[in-house]
Formats: sequence, structure tokens, C-alpha cells
Amino acid sequence: MANIMLTEKCNLRCPYCFADDFVCDRGKEIPFEELKRVILRIVRESPARKVGLIGGEPTLYSKFRETLEFMEQSEEIRHIVIFTNGILLNQFADSIRSDKPVFLINCNSPQTIGNSNFRRMEQSIEMLVRDKRLINNTMLGLNVYKKDQDFDFFIKLLKDYCFRYARISLVVPHNMEQYDSAKQYQREFKSTLLRLFRQLSEIEVVPNYDCNKVPASIWTSDEQTEIREMFGERIKRSNILHPAQKCSPTLDIDTQLNVFRCFGFSDGQKVKLDEFESLNQIKAYFVENIDKNVLRCHEECEAGCLRFGVNRHVICE
Ligand SMILES: C[S@@+](CC[C@H](N)C(=O)[O-])C[C@H]1O[C@@H](n2cnc3c(N)ncnc32)[C@H](O)[C@@H]1O
Ligand code: SF4
Ligand code: SF4
Repeated sequence: MANIMLTEKCNLRCPYCFADDFVCDRGKEIPFEELKRVILRIVRESPARKVGLIGGEPTLYSKFRETLEFMEQSEEIRHIVIFTNGILLNQFADSIRSDKPVFLINCNSPQTIGNSNFRRMEQSIEMLVRDKRLINNTMLGLNVYKKDQDFDFFIKLLKDYCFRYARISLVVPHNMEQYDSAKQYQREFKSTLLRLFRQLSEIEVVPNYDCNKVPASIWTSDEQTEIREMFGERIKRSNILHPAQKCSPTLDIDTQLNVFRCFGFSDGQKVKLDEFESLNQIKAYFVENIDKNVLRCHEECEAGCLRFGVNRHVICE
């Protein structure tokens, strides 16, 4: 799925954010006519007729309401994935009229974003789950970035709104050069992840990794057994014990229509969207110029963010 960045503006400064080199209060945004053209180009090339909206914070885009209306009305667009911090989403409740959009709400603690922002994020969740009955189109996500991170607020949100799945990312760190490999970094977070999994299992919520996926091989066989027992049969619908965690180019398109392999490479190689005939050609370009230059040790333990391998050419040990 390709994602379009509606605006560089953001109302938060999350400590782990990939985009911290350009998100700001007055960033650029994509002209609305261009946006509609690019959305249609993406869905026409997507077998699932799907497109993702990112930022910055997409709800700060000056034409966000018009974007939702356009997407709700277009018969060509079947699925829209909206990545948001959720703080302003409630203001757009009237423009959410179908189950076409899926909302990935990136949750931060009240200590990180302040009580009033947290309350507004919770009102947005309430609007989606209780008023619109869109729980199946809403996924709460958590970025794990501190070993002693407190997960209680996230557990309470999942429990209060009866979620059964959660999106988890062990963040791609800013200081990745300190690590010899993705796996070294992932191993350092084992006890934090295990603590999170235990808390999730107590409320019967199954985690699913997004970026920087952790391969099963970091866990001992006892730990794998424990994780399996925690989540039972529903673990089959999760990727947390997958032996190989593939990461293929997502294609993130910025406000100037430059395309990056994914958000993690937003400060790296880019190409112009309109210079390529198809998105598949752009994917192939990134596979050739980025993925193939990162040597992974062997298929089974393929895992972790490709960025770890950029300068040292090996992603595992
Ligand atoms: C950059 S944000 C933009 C949209 C929106 N502001 C948000 O926070 O969802 C897109 C997604 O990137 C993910 N992300 C940001 N920084 C990350 C990092 N360092 N490692 C892994 N994922 C990250 C977050 O989970 C977020 O949902
Ligand atoms: S809300 Fe999203 S774009 Fe804004 S700082 Fe946080 S992760 Fe980055
Ligand atoms: S390389 Fe993969 S894991 Fe890293 S940021 Fe990109 S999509 Fe995420």
C-alpha cells in the first residue's frame, strides 16, 4: 500500500518520531487537486483499491474534511487507511460516513502529550467505537521506545473500549549506529516486550507488529511457549512469532510528490512519482537500490528495520 503525506504539520513531537527532521508547526502541504489525482492513481494501481494517509498529522491538513468527503464519495476507492494521533479526529465525525476508512490511532500517554490532548484522543476513540460502531475499523497502536515505559494507559484504553487486537512497533531508534544489528537492539527490549505481552494477555488483547518487526528467533523456546500460551489460538492471527519478518517497500509520497521507500528512509533516496509509469516500477527501483544493498544473514532470521543495515551491510549478526 502506498501512503500520501498530506501535510508536514504536526501538533505533537513524539520522542521516537521518524519524521522529526521535518515535522513542524508550519510545514508544507499537498495541493488538494494534486492530492485527488495521486489518490486515484494509487487506488487504480492497487488490487485492493487501497490508499494510506499520513503526515505529519493528517487531520491538520487544511482540506482534511474535503479529503474525507472525496474519498467517501469516490466509487473507485474501497479502503482508506488513516494514520493519526487521534487528537483532532473527533472534529471530523460528520464526514466519516461509511466503513471505508480504517483509523490507526497512534496512542501516547497523558504524561507525554498532556492531559487535554489525551482526553481529546480518547473522545475520538469513543466517537469511532461507540457512536459510529467502527471498532472493526479502528486499531490502537503503541510505539515501544523506552525500556521502563509505562503501558497502563494503553491497557486501560484497550480494555475500556473492548479492543481485541493492538498494533505494536518497537520503534526504529534515532541512535541506531550504536547497535551492531537490528537483533542486538531488539534483544535489549525483550523484557519490555514480554512485560507488554503479559499485560495485553491479561485483557485478552493480541498484539501485532508493524515496523521493525521482531523475529521469533530472539525468544528462547521457553519464552516462545509462554507467549503461545498467553494468546492461545488467536496467535495465529498475529505476526509476533513469525520466524521471518519481511519488510518490502511501502512507498511513502511526500507533499512535493517525492517517493521514499518508507517513512524510515524519509531522509534518504527519493524519486519523483510522476517520472515513473507505475508504482511497481518504483518498488522495483527501491528493491534494487536499497533492499539489495542490505545483506541479511540468512532467510530464517530476516527481521528488523532495513535502516540498521544501511551502513554496515548486515542486518543481523
Ligand atoms: C510518522 S506517523 C504520521 C501519522 C500520525 N501523525 C501518527 O502518528 O500516526 C506514521 C506512523 O509512523 C510510526 N512511527 C513513527 N516513528 C516511528 C519510529 N521511530 N519507529 C517505528 N514507527 C514509527 C507511528 O506508529 C505512526 O503511526
Ligand atoms: S504524531 Fe505522528 S507525525 Fe506527529 S510527532 Fe508523533 S509520530 Fe510524528
Ligand atoms: S525499512 Fe521496514 S521496518 Fe524500517 S521503517 Fe521502513 S518499513 Fe519500517
